[in-house]
Amino acid sequence: MGEKRSSSAAQISAAKSRVPNGEAELYVAKGWRYNPIPFVTSIKNEACFMILKVARLGFPSVRTTASPVPTERILTHDFQKLIDDMIETMNEYHGVGLAAPQIHLPIQLAVLEVENHPRDPDMPSVPLTVLINPVVTILDDSLVEEWEGCLSIPDLRGRVPRFKQLRVTALGRDAKPLEIDASDFHARVIQHETDHLKGEVYIDRMPNLRTLSFLEEWQRFMLAPPAEKKES
Ligand code: NI
Repeated sequence: MGEKRSSSAAQISAAKSRVPNGEAELYVAKGWRYNPIPFVTSIKNEACFMILKVARLGFPSVRTTASPVPTERILTHDFQKLIDDMIETMNEYHGVGLAAPQIHLPIQLAVLEVENHPRDPDMPSVPLTVLINPVVTILDDSLVEEWEGCLSIPDLRGRVPRFKQLRVTALGRDAKPLEIDASDFHARVIQHETDHLKGEVYIDRMPNLRTLSFLEEWQRFMLAPPAEKKES
């Protein structure tokens, strides 16, 4: 909480000097044995991926319509580093997605990925995807209601209806067009992240705010016990 989260060249070279020759990347990347600065998770060619501060509800960028990213900007070093930092930030906070307005930048960029989620092993996998200037087309407008949370609205969960199936077209981090058809949970994550680019958050989509729960109470009272969950 009160911990200072900044790095310096001196700290990084101190980290490197404490590990055997040639193994700095490996040990610093693992972040548990020698690394005195655990928020730096990889060091390669003197570049660090940084964990960014997440904007909470109330910060203007969370409620701003994001601007399109100029195509010529995508392949620049700064923009590629921003993408890497967003992926690092999403992983650090166990998010399944992160949109640029959540790191104080109202631009049309979002990242998503789910792989063995630490808090919910049953969560379906979603491949690592970078969406720049995404456009969503709904393919199946039937609504599916499920629980959602958001890094910008910490410690809360709520029931949110989402369209069942969609197609998203966007530019990838290589600045080339991509097209993804997604359904169910994958479609939900894309709808949540692209909503952020319109200045919208999941509680705007909740038809009934009475399901809004703090994480601890949600785990205690709202989730089905594991045995029942498996049988259903
Ligand atoms: Ni969110």
